[in-house]
Amino acid sequence: MKALILSGGKGTRLRPLTYSGAKQLVPVANKPILWYGIEGIVAAGITDIGIIISPETGNEVRDLTGDGLLFDAKITYILQEEPAGLAHAVKVAQPFLGDSPFIMYLGDNIIEANLGEFLTTFQSNQLDSLILLRRVSNPSAFGVAKVDDFGRVEFLVEKPKHPPSNLALVGVYFFSPAIHQAISQIQPSARGELEITDAIQWLIDQRYPVESRILDGWWLDTGKKDDLLEANRIVLDTQITPEIMGELDSRSQAIGRVRIGAGTQLVNSSIRGPAIVGANCYLENCFIGPYTSIANGVTLIDADIEHSVILQGAKIDRIQQRIVDSVIGRRAHLTLADRRPKALRFMIGDDSQIELA
Ligand code: G1P
Repeated sequence: MKALILSGGKGTRLRPLTYSGAKQLVPVANKPILWYGIEGIVAAGITDIGIIISPETGNEVRDLTGDGLLFDAKITYILQEEPAGLAHAVKVAQPFLGDSPFIMYLGDNIIEANLGEFLTTFQSNQLDSLILLRRVSNPSAFGVAKVDDFGRVEFLVEKPKHPPSNLALVGVYFFSPAIHQAISQIQPSARGELEITDAIQWLIDQRYPVESRILDGWWLDTGKKDDLLEANRIVLDTQITPEIMGELDSRSQAIGRVRIGAGTQLVNSSIRGPAIVGANCYLENCFIGPYTSIANGVTLIDADIEHSVILQGAKIDRIQQRIVDSVIGRRAHLTLADRRPKALRFMIGDDSQIELA
């Protein structure tokens, strides 16, 4: 059994963060989204992992993630020259996959599930595909499945205007090598991509056994700001183990589940968990509220922040209002220039959003 993780694409929905980096590397609770998928796959006992990368962000993904040593796995990087669809990615990965069955995992998804259980179902039922579904309120944004009472998939449709059910395809699929034949038989869709949904439909039409299981746990497709904040909230709530490696002065405190990295200094600051602060940060006169993740090398002075994600090297200095529901990009600076500000002065990248609430 092998694994294929898709970490290409342009990440248009997470702009501006993704102008300068891969969407799969945006951190949730200070860990790249992609790594949650790798860890889940390794936990299911699969250690031969191929990662699809794009020319734009491939080097960054490879440099950060490495050859697998971090995960006790072997990682092979596979370049997909253009974002021509999920089935196209499988086609490009065919030399790596050979005739092995595999799990395909979209690198911007995080699911709360034991993949090992689904792997056992896939293998013991001798399926050619097992797909994971979840009930959603906006099925038109996803691939949608119609299933019978036994979990057998009747048909699939990609981003339908009139969805036949509320069961969305989660970005995790199990395949036998029969999928390669299916992919060789399908044509690009209206959006010009080779859709994995169409390839699975081909298997169904040819009467190959295709089953589905419905996820009860959470599933986060971290494509947008609010999804990212929600992923951050859930992971901080469920997966953070408290540990203080940095230094707190006598006027500082960490309450609840808080993790603080090495080399970080707190001066007259309070952190109320669940929250995580990376390494080598400096916080002075701050209040950091629940569901906040602060990456490495961040400087915060007189800041009041809650339910937000602050990326590496950002600096927030004497902003007098509370900052909530925000994502602040790498090396961004927010500063107070005058003691009694009469105006706001900005230097903001393309696609940024500012809301004075
Ligand atoms: C892809 C799949 C879709 C699936 C979704 C899950 O869509 O085509 O069937 O429901 O991932 O995240 P995309 O994110 O490429 O629009």
